[in-house]
Amino acid sequence: MIEPTKVTPYEQLGGEAKVREIAARFYDAMDEHEPALAGLHRLDERGRVHPEAREKFALFFIGWLGGPQTYMERHGHPRLRMRHAGVVVTQEMRDAWMRAMKRALDESGVEGDLRAFMEERLGDVATMLRNAPG
Ligand code: HEM
Repeated sequence: MIEPTKVTPYEQLGGEAKVREIAARFYDAMDEHEPALAGLHRLDERGRVHPEAREKFALFFIGWLGGPQTYMERHGHPRLRMRHAGVVVTQEMRDAWMRAMKRALDESGVEGDLRAFMEERLGDVATMLRNAPG
């Protein structure tokens, strides 16, 4: 039997350039609109989320959406809860993270079923990362 081709979210979005665009807009939105959340991150000399932090997330995001697994090759399994253990992730910060992501998805024109899928799955991960009251 012929297997139906499985199109990954990465492919549906249009590949690496588009995923990188979303990731860049996400941190730009964080820098501009969510200062408390941005302030949890390593910042550059201009006070914006550091390019290395942006790059790590972009590589993770590419792999998480079904694209090349470069993040895993370079950094190992994401183990996100462990990697966020040193970050105080409250419900408030979880919601700020999602607001920045939704803004990035809006600006990148991600709509329909793919948008709903991404918001739901990202929301679940963000919820799972909460590790502090407030
Ligand atoms: C829920 C609220 C969240 C907060 C407050 C938060 C905060 C942070 C912070 C402060 C860092 C360290 C960045 C640095 O300075 O190098 C980080 C790294 C990272 N975050 Fe989050 N994050 C959140 C949610 C998420 C979600 C939902 C994902 C994935 C879908 C994610 C993926 C990552 C990845 C991949 C890294 C890099 C880890 C590494 O390789 O060291 N984060 N996050």
